Amino acid sequence: MRKFVSLGLCGALIMAFVVLTQAQMSDKAQLGRELFHDPTFKGTIDPSKATGLACASCHADFDETAKPDGVIRAGHSVVGVPHRGEAKGGMIKGADFARAAGGGGFCYEHFLQRVPPDKVNPTAIPAEHAEALMAYFEVISGDNKGPEFEIAMLDKDAIKKAGEDIAAMSGDASNGWQLFGRACITCHPSVKKAGIGPQLVRSRAPRNIDATMARWAGKIRGGGSLMPFYAPDILSDQDIADIIAFLRDQIENTAK
Ligand code: HEC
Ligand code: HEC
Repeated sequence: MRKFVSLGLCGALIMAFVVLTQAQMSDKAQLGRELFHDPTFKGTIDPSKATGLACASCHADFDETAKPDGVIRAGHSVVGVPHRGEAKGGMIKGADFARAAGGGGFCYEHFLQRVPPDKVNPTAIPAEHAEALMAYFEVISGDNKGPEFEIAMLDKDAIKKAGEDIAAMSGDASNGWQLFGRACITCHPSVKKAGIGPQLVRSRAPRNIDATMARWAGKIRGGGSLMPFYAPDILSDQDIADIIAFLRDQIENTAK
């Protein structure tokens, strides 16, 4: 009997040890998971600089191809980040890669705190936060290498040309409305309501609607100061043309 009890006790101790070490192993990753969803970064971001965006506003932390949820996020899934080894088209690599949370350090300054892109230091994110994010990315990635994509950084002229080309295409406004709902409402809660982004449809129509639509199409493809760009594998030219057709309809039906 006594032997049985001590065996049981021993087992319980082993179990407690296993649970404890597992908890210890995943504490860092758990912190990373919470940071990923937290626009205040555990309260460390200056409230006067915070945009209200979290990493999760623009990135999935699961495999979107295997388990699509219908949301269109500007950034790619962070599944596979630890396998990439470099970010920002090779601008962040070597020891800086982990220190910059796989490139997330750029987003941390620019999208969460409005630091202009040319002033961003991708390794300015606190080291413990970068580590926690990377630990979380490792847990959710495992062997999954994540989505394959190539980012072409467009200059001003390329953005203008892309906008003009897209605005010249014909688009399906009702599909555009659905795409708007899936991609844009995080920041533009409706076309007539401002959120993190401005109100898009006002009571007064833009003076030159064709030029405005071309500029807007370019903004979606190329991004703005805070608005993220949408790469062609996330929104195709036709998708953007559909969104533009929807926005044009809304302007023409609203404005005088
Ligand atoms: C407003 C949208 C937005 C927010 C918020 C945002 N990102 Fe990003 N992020 C992007 C876009 C757009 C890219 C461009 C590359 C891509 O599509 O992955 C990107 C790139 C990245 C990359 C890959 C860089 C590369 O070139 O391979 C990582 C990693 C990343 N973000 C992590 C984060 C983390 C961590 C946070 C939170 C601190 C965050 N992002 C917040 C939009 C965002
Ligand atoms: C992460 C937030 C965010 C997301 C997501 C976002 N926007 Fe924006 N958008 C902004 C901000 C902020 C501005 C204004 C400043 C700037 O240019 O960055 C803006 C500006 C714009 C403008 C220019 C308005 C003007 O009067 O010049 C258009 C058009 C626009 N957004 C459309 C869209 C569409 C369409 C989508 C979805 C495909 C989208 N946005 C997704 C934040 C966002």
